[in-house]
Amino acid sequence: MKIKRIAHLGIAVKDLEAPKKLYGENLGLELKGEEVVDTQKVKVSFIKVGETSLELLLPTAPDSPVAKFLENKGEGFHHLALEVEDLHAAVAELKAAGVRLIDETPREGAHGALVAFIHPKATFGLLLELVQSPH
Ligand code: CO
Repeated sequence: MKIKRIAHLGIAVKDLEAPKKLYGENLGLELKGEEVVDTQKVKVSFIKVGETSLELLLPTAPDSPVAKFLENKGEGFHHLALEVEDLHAAVAELKAAGVRLIDETPREGAHGALVAFIHPKATFGLLLELVQSPH
């Protein structure tokens, strides 16, 4: 597969306003808007950092995976997203190689992108998201 760049770093938060103030006002970064991603039960806010982004993740339901993460570990780094050219091909390649996946089939993420998560047991503790942008 071909990895193009680090698409974003996901950060779990309990509130969006305070971190947006930090990144937007104090660090002077560009806020790129918010979106609710129903499939993952989160509201996300993207912050542009050059060619990559920070993705703030706020759970929208108590059974959201991010709500469970916050309960167990508190706020902080949650996942790293790598952009691939062809996500279906990348997932097929990983399955064929026996790499354990959370998503055996790509699903829709924020901004209409296709995403698939690799299991942290397969990545030495790092939750890794593969993303294919819609354009
Ligand atoms: Co993400």
